[in-house]
Amino acid sequence: MGVRIPPSANHSVTDMKTKGRVAVLLSGRGSNFEAIYKNSLKRDANYRVVVVVSNKKDAPGLQKASEFGLDFFHVAPKSYKTKTAYERAIIAILEEYSVDLLCLAGYMKIVGEELLQAYENRIMNIHPALLPSFPGLHAQKQAVDHGVKISGCTVHFVDAGVDTGPIILQRPVEVRDDDSEDTLGQRILKEEHEIFSEAVRLFFKKKLKIKNRKVIIIE
Ligand code: GRF
Repeated sequence: MGVRIPPSANHSVTDMKTKGRVAVLLSGRGSNFEAIYKNSLKRDANYRVVVVVSNKKDAPGLQKASEFGLDFFHVAPKSYKTKTAYERAIIAILEEYSVDLLCLAGYMKIVGEELLQAYENRIMNIHPALLPSFPGLHAQKQAVDHGVKISGCTVHFVDAGVDTGPIILQRPVEVRDDDSEDTLGQRILKEEHEIFSEAVRLFFKKKLKIKNRKVIIIE
């Protein structure tokens, strides 16, 4: 199991029983995590973040988790002989916290079989492009370099591929002639912060049905 870095938030008994239990897996700054967390504090939110896990000990996102009073863990891939063992350590934490949904918020590792099986159709990822365009790293730069006029962001369920899983929500963002990776990225990020929480909300309202590879949003 990973290193536990001191917790812990107090939540009402009502919260614990009725709200969806979200874990966030991250590797970096954690702005999407922050948005998901802050939206979970709104009066009508139907989920709460119960634990944050990172493969990077110095991820600023872990620092944020600490500031928010959330439980958080660092699980170092190098401490495990195999990816399977590493993911089992993560699963042990997720089970300890009775997690219903795992949100990848800037998690820079490919999810393996172990996690995929344990949380089938219960892992979401946010990607800074309109998939299936520009999967993988530096999606914003790919969009600028390619010269597209519109890019955006996508929340999708995670499958074994890289950014290939069933698409839940997308938001377009105009690409300006003078955009850099950075300026475009900032405008996309604003939209990411909205649609990720919205996808989580829809999940716990049981509005998302996966049919083949299509996600139907039930009215
Ligand atoms: C975001 O652009 C997200 O789309 C991508 O990684 C970045 C993470 O940013 N998967 P942050 O750590 O949430 O600020």
